[in-house]
Amino acid sequence: MHRLGFGSMRLTGRGIWGPPEDPAECRTVLRRAVELGVDLIDTADSYGPYVAEELIGDTLGDRDDVVIATKAGLTRVAPDIGLGPAAWPPVGRPEYLRQECEMSLRRLRRDVIDLWQLHRIDPNVPAEDQFGVLRDMQSEGKVRFVGLSQVSVPQIEAARKIVQIVSVQNRYHLGDRASEEVLRYCEAHDIAFLPWAPLAQGRLSAEGPLATIAQERGEAVGTIALAWLLAHSENLLPIPGTSRVAHLEQNMRAANIELTPVEMAAIEEGIQ
Ligand SMILES: NC(=O)c1ccc[n+]([C@@H]2O[C@H](COP(=O)([O-])OP(=O)(O)OC[C@H]3O[C@@H](n4cnc5c(N)ncnc54)[C@H](OP(=O)(O)O)[C@@H]3O)[C@@H](O)[C@H]2O)c1
Repeated sequence: MHRLGFGSMRLTGRGIWGPPEDPAECRTVLRRAVELGVDLIDTADSYGPYVAEELIGDTLGDRDDVVIATKAGLTRVAPDIGLGPAAWPPVGRPEYLRQECEMSLRRLRRDVIDLWQLHRIDPNVPAEDQFGVLRDMQSEGKVRFVGLSQVSVPQIEAARKIVQIVSVQNRYHLGDRASEEVLRYCEAHDIAFLPWAPLAQGRLSAEGPLATIAQERGEAVGTIALAWLLAHSENLLPIPGTSRVAHLEQNMRAANIELTPVEMAAIEEGIQ
């Protein structure tokens, strides 16, 4: 796969709730992403809910050359407008996860889910039962590969005792490197790390070395932030999200940018 993927959470309404303002533009974003070489699209049952998966199924259901990574384990109660995790309660009961897997297959119009990720470990359900469903869906042929999301090293280790884990998806960007230890673990164990919010959800600083390098190269700050991720570790597969073709094209430029060691050092220094 190409290392620069696409995150589909933004193909929904305000607060990641309901349909997007401009569904036609969102379909174009998906098609254009694939045209530009994206072959990894991240989604989840809870985006919309169901809206992003349905758009992907409608638009790219027949493209089995595109890896679709979806998730289950978070439910929705309201638009996430300032609510944060309260808008996304985890539910990890095995029968619920199983049902969501079946419904994701339907919405995505696929016979098999390329990568199925546990969106969160539900603290109210034994973790081994949740990992067990990942293993069972894989052995039943509904899921090709299995991943985790927002986890610690001990949680990855616990899961790996039950099922092979090929990917971890934690929040990680220039302004939040709390998962650096998880990234190192992934490097050591040949696990892909999909950094979510790679553009800091649009809140990257417009000042400092990142902005200077962006200006010198005539690129957007976000493009350079993505190039930094790609250079920082070979295990990183960023999944920037956007609902606009112009932003997608800007983000995809990162795949062709090679930062010099001096630029890398300046960026690293600027974030310490
Ligand atoms: N595992 C998890 O728990 C989890 C949590 C959150 C997200 N994710 C995944 O990670 C993906 C990425 O995260 P994210 O979407 O939250 O954050 P992000 O990729 O860091 O940033 C997306 C935000 O930045 C804006 N943006 C994107 N490209 C831009 C550009 N070139 N210029 C200006 N603004 C730009 C987007 O708005 P526009 O639409 O206006 O471009 C959107 O508001 C999601 O789509 C989802 O697949 C996973």
